[in-house]
Amino acid sequence: MQTLTQHLTSQAVNDSLSQLILTLADTSKAISHAVRHGALAGVLGATEQENVQGETQKKLDIITNDMLKDALKADGTVRGLASEEEDHVVEVSKGGQYLVCFDPLDGSSNIDINSLVGTIFSVLPAPAGELTETSFLQSGRAQLAAGYVLYGPSTMLALTTGQGVQLFTLHPETNEFLLTDAAMSISPDTAEFAINMSNQRFWEAPMQTYIADLLLGKIGPREKSFNMRWIAAMVGDVHRVLSRGGIFTYPTDNKDAKKPYKLRLMYEANPMAFLVEQAGGKASTGYETILDIIPTQIHQRVAVILGSSNEVDACLSYHGLDYSEEPNLD
Ligand code: F6P
Ligand code: MN
Repeated sequence: MQTLTQHLTSQAVNDSLSQLILTLADTSKAISHAVRHGALAGVLGATEQENVQGETQKKLDIITNDMLKDALKADGTVRGLASEEEDHVVEVSKGGQYLVCFDPLDGSSNIDINSLVGTIFSVLPAPAGELTETSFLQSGRAQLAAGYVLYGPSTMLALTTGQGVQLFTLHPETNEFLLTDAAMSISPDTAEFAINMSNQRFWEAPMQTYIADLLLGKIGPREKSFNMRWIAAMVGDVHRVLSRGGIFTYPTDNKDAKKPYKLRLMYEANPMAFLVEQAGGKASTGYETILDIIPTQIHQRVAVILGSSNEVDACLSYHGLDYSEEPNLD
């Protein structure tokens, strides 16, 4: 089996980007180690602190953010970083060519119940000149690499550098990432959806009607039964979609008028959309292709609908309809 280093060479990924990807992969091995020690290392539970978006930070949010920050500072290829757990962008190395955006521990509320968590990352080119927040405001199409590391029963790295999606599994004894799927591919059709159903009453009419039609199963307009899964960690749900197809959505809702979207464009939606498109799937907000969005703020949030291409199209077709009338769910 190919190691990650051998794979990067075989794909002719340039030396500096390979070095950065290996740094991210090595740090994720250390994170995997910290996560696995759990309560034994006293790393579970929350802190008194909140992040810039008003969410209580878990101890492991801060520990993993610091681990990635320290590793990227030592790497030398990174001009600046933006993290879900940092209020502002962080200047790293003056001579670095890359910007790295990351969610150090996605799904961190799962950590205390020993369920799936992961690290998500996105690599952008660093523009010349002074480093500011504006340096990061590039569309997802500019990403040079993206991936996630899933800390599950095995630790897995899904990676794209724009040449498909490869999946690596961390060998527990040799501590090496080995290529276990050379071409992840999302089936175009699916009978599985992922959404937090408890928000149903807060969704927009198109999403209400789309999900209601899925729930009607064989007797509804879709004429087939659908199954539902929700891991409550995007990294886990997207991994399932990449592994066996499906549609995952965190749609617009009006639960809190100040926060109509949950997922972050730079740290979650863009890297996952790059992976999903590279695996043959689609990723949209319902109205716009995620990778085409020009960001206006590093911490901006967006609605996300991604996965099996025909199912995403089916969902989008509801968004093109006229919903000025109350949906008829009969
Ligand atoms: O990072 C945000 C996040 O934890 C995602 O990983 C996950 O998909 C979602 O929020 C879960 O949201 P909820 O708590 O509404 O189920
Ligand atoms: Mn997250």
